[in-house]
Amino acid sequence: MGKIVILTGAGISAESGLGTFRDADGLWARHSIEDVATPEGFARNPSLVHDFYNARRQQAASAPPNAAHRALARLQAGWRNDVVIVTQNVDALHEAGGARDVIHMHGTLAGALCAACGHRWPAPDTMSPDDLCPRCGGASTRPDVVWFGEMPYHMDRIMDHLAGADLFAAIGTSGQVYPAAGFVQEASAAGAHTLEMTLEASDVSFGFAESRLGPATRVVVDWVADLIGDEPAADG
Ligand code: APR
Repeated sequence: MGKIVILTGAGISAESGLGTFRDADGLWARHSIEDVATPEGFARNPSLVHDFYNARRQQAASAPPNAAHRALARLQAGWRNDVVIVTQNVDALHEAGGARDVIHMHGTLAGALCAACGHRWPAPDTMSPDDLCPRCGGASTRPDVVWFGEMPYHMDRIMDHLAGADLFAAIGTSGQVYPAAGFVQEASAAGAHTLEMTLEASDVSFGFAESRLGPATRVVVDWVADLIGDEPAADG
């Protein structure tokens, strides 16, 4: 087996203490998507949106990567071919777990964007509607995350990777948001084996050739061990 392309969702960060979106106590049970994750909501009430992302940025900054994040980094280092990680997550736990060149298709909490001139810079811990863009001076700064109704980032690169995948694995995603939910069809059409690893069946489980259900810190770690062997003992 050659190139592996992995898509991750909020479920891989759940055991690091970060909430998912659609589980029982998920973010969308406590916040209105329209109010905090759409351009219209940001235009209506930028303070509410900044407060929402400031809280998530601070929570994500103190969350530790878990065994699943570390296992994927080991796979990237130990696999005989490319291992590409595409994530819907805006946290930096893949990188904290040692992964490289992670493709953040929904942006990152660590990034700030000027809605007026398109300038990008590292986000401060706390953002506010009063922040001015360092380049154009406009009071139009926003988190550099992709909201509903906006085009995800890096789609051309992602489609190229899917076209060349021998194995596509989706980890911790409910398959309810496109285009990510359609990646399994793209990979399958390109002849890839497809594997879903999540806590419970997703909206697109039917599209996968193989499924391993359970918590990512067990299922992903076992899958990586099947591919490249167990993690070396802590003292070894
Ligand atoms: N291990 C593995 N999977 C888990 C775990 C766990 N410990 N806990 C939850 N899951 C699974 C759930 O079963 C579910 O399939 O993670 C998935 C979480 O689904 P969502 O909350 O919908 O998150 P996600 O699929 O990443 O959402 C996609 O929607 O709101 C937008 O932009 C947001 O990137 C997000 C996108």
